[in-house]
Amino acid sequence: MTDRLYTEHPELYDAVQSAWDYDRDVSFLLAAADRHDAASVADGRLADPPTELLEVGCGTGEHTQRLVAAGFDVAGVDPNEPMLDRARRKFPGLDARLVVGGLPSLPVTRTFPVVVAFRGVISHLPPEGLEPAVAALGDRLADDGVLVFDASRLPPDGHDGPALDVGETAQGTYARIVQLQPREDGRLDWNSVVVPPEGEAFVNSRPVTPFDDREIVDALRAAGLTVETHDGFGPGDDGRTVFVATPA
Ligand SMILES: C[S@@+](CC[C@H](N)C(=O)[O-])C[C@H]1O[C@@H](n2cnc3c(N)ncnc32)[C@H](O)[C@@H]1O
Repeated sequence: MTDRLYTEHPELYDAVQSAWDYDRDVSFLLAAADRHDAASVADGRLADPPTELLEVGCGTGEHTQRLVAAGFDVAGVDPNEPMLDRARRKFPGLDARLVVGGLPSLPVTRTFPVVVAFRGVISHLPPEGLEPAVAALGDRLADDGVLVFDASRLPPDGHDGPALDVGETAQGTYARIVQLQPREDGRLDWNSVVVPPEGEAFVNSRPVTPFDDREIVDALRAAGLTVETHDGFGPGDDGRTVFVATPA
């Protein structure tokens, strides 16, 4: 089973995520970049644009568009071309900024003052993929740069749900039954049955890894980075740990 929201139905991915507070995440990033002198911020945007930023796992471009609006010169990468196509359709101005690729083999070689991976991108990696991925993120970070990413807090025993999610797309109402299930290899499957507004119902499966915060901190230190952790991107965002790392 594959993640068909990423590969065939990115418009449903957007609908499922439509309540997400993308502005809050970007505000967090701006504050972190300012605090660590990777960028200078005034009135919620860069005071001295453009600062180059690499966004890994940019998906359908919701953060990307906001980062550009805040004054960053953004390069966005994502391994799922349909997600990037959806971003291009929604935000045509992003087209030249988006490149197919993912961790750990990032399709860019230069370094950036700001590197970011929003919303559980790291949780998509297999256990053995964590260290190479964190090393790749550190490699793309400028000497005085800042790296910001989050990891989803997943239940250690792997059980969550089932839950019913009903929402709207431009074509009409969709419904999903979602359940997180443990796998024998220590990973979890985020399984769902999705009934789109049009066309056949389908099964979606997203493998994720319940990384412990300590493992991630250790991987960042092994990559030569100093790290601080935060409880989410803002008040009430209790489903993730946010890691802010700078070269040691
Ligand atoms: C939950 S979505 C978040 C997308 C976007 N950042 C957002 O907040 O809407 C996770 C994204 O990670 C991407 N992804 C999966 N594996 C990845 C990898 N190894 N490297 C980079 N991105 C990856 C997926 O294609 C997907 O777009």
